[in-house]
Amino acid sequence: MGGFQNVSQSIIEALQLIVGEENVLYGDETKMEAYSHDEVAEKEYARMPEVVVLAGSTEEVSRIVKLANREKIPVTPRGAGSGLSGGAVPIMGGIVLSTERMNKILEIDTENLIAVLEPGVITNEFNNEVQKEGLFFAGYPMSLEMCFIGGNVAENAGGGRAIKYGVTGRYILGLEVVLPTGDVATFGGKIVKDVTGYNMVQLMVGSEGTLGIFTKIFVKLLPLPKAKIDMMALFEDVQSAINLVPIIMKEMRIIPTGIEFMDRLSLETSCEFLGERKEKYKNAGAFLIIELDGNDPDTVRNECLDIGDLCLDHGAIDAFVAEGPADQEKIWKVRRHVAEAFKAISPVQSLEDIVVPVSRIPELIPELERLSKKHGVFIPCYGHAGDGNLHATIVKRPEDSMAHWKELLPRVLEDLYISTRKLGGTISGEHGIGHKRKRYLPLVLGEAEIEAMKNIKRALDPNNIINPGKIFDIQ
Ligand code: LAC
Ligand code: ZN
Repeated sequence: MGGFQNVSQSIIEALQLIVGEENVLYGDETKMEAYSHDEVAEKEYARMPEVVVLAGSTEEVSRIVKLANREKIPVTPRGAGSGLSGGAVPIMGGIVLSTERMNKILEIDTENLIAVLEPGVITNEFNNEVQKEGLFFAGYPMSLEMCFIGGNVAENAGGGRAIKYGVTGRYILGLEVVLPTGDVATFGGKIVKDVTGYNMVQLMVGSEGTLGIFTKIFVKLLPLPKAKIDMMALFEDVQSAINLVPIIMKEMRIIPTGIEFMDRLSLETSCEFLGERKEKYKNAGAFLIIELDGNDPDTVRNECLDIGDLCLDHGAIDAFVAEGPADQEKIWKVRRHVAEAFKAISPVQSLEDIVVPVSRIPELIPELERLSKKHGVFIPCYGHAGDGNLHATIVKRPEDSMAHWKELLPRVLEDLYISTRKLGGTISGEHGIGHKRKRYLPLVLGEAEIEAMKNIKRALDPNNIINPGKIFDIQ
């Protein structure tokens, strides 16, 4: 690995010629600090870029990448930096290429139900725009108020509606991509069916910024459902709440939009962070948020009541419904801000993203308890229970030293990942491998799988300049 060149003064000048002086940041660590990390709490995963370039067009991205490829300088593409595996961090130095200026919704095509976007559009702003047309984008990452659509595609973001609507990739029909050579390719487009050659769109989706830089994104839209209801069910303990998830899926023959889970500590931490009142959550030990949508309000309401009854029959201590948008937003706001709250309140931690088949999540809970006792760490937990994706968060105990924590964490993670694998799951459902989890990849993928992936990377990026050191190392 390596063999990269540093960013020299003449490279800085060449970059300034491409994007304009005002769009090149260098030599000022205060200004570049924001581009040296993502939302991963652990500081060891950060690295200062040599230069940050704010590209304004496909043409500019292409020229920057051509220059970098010729000069063997790493380029790390960056959206809003809301990632959770270090994907946007320039660990080999070089250029951080920010897409923040490429923030236009180019088209909302209401005949084909497709939008064409630049990568730097904020996901929530995009959704607000299409809702004016009675449409919606089904992706629902918890960072939607800040994340960019380009990052959602790069990480194949999951979020809170995956059981019913799937993850980001399902909605991506086409991509204009600047390849690692600087060539511009367009894969797919406004067509729903396309078997003209390899499915390059879905290869690019979730490639964590290692195969190219997206400059235009074709997103499939759906008609906005007319009715939506959220319910919160309160349980005495975590196990009772989680046990119910596969039962809902099996017995109801209803696919909720989302079934989200929070344990007591997660809910309290988020409420404290947001300054929200906690009284209505009583002394419950765990919570499910269940969301249903559809076009017929009566059907949705009846389905919700049925699920509420099922919860009460299976040990829920209370359940309440939030029907209006304001009440729904209150519940979701607490859920969406859990990660941020933990990061602010317990910064020495590792936010995990394990995923197992839904039927096996009840078995994960005793495993988390076992690991917590065995290793002497806290493991609060929340997440997208309805699709088996839980954010167990390993938190350092205040009485333990940092040296102890650093030695302990890899052992906890290895145990956690092995437990997950035994349940038929894997180490990341939606946050990605990045460089945070790269050393653990061989725990869940064999040589054949990893080598096939590396061969794709080598073929598309012969100089290994686009986001090097992520997912795996290329020699
Ligand atoms: C969430 C982020 C951490 O679900 O993925 O809150
Ligand atoms: Zn999540």
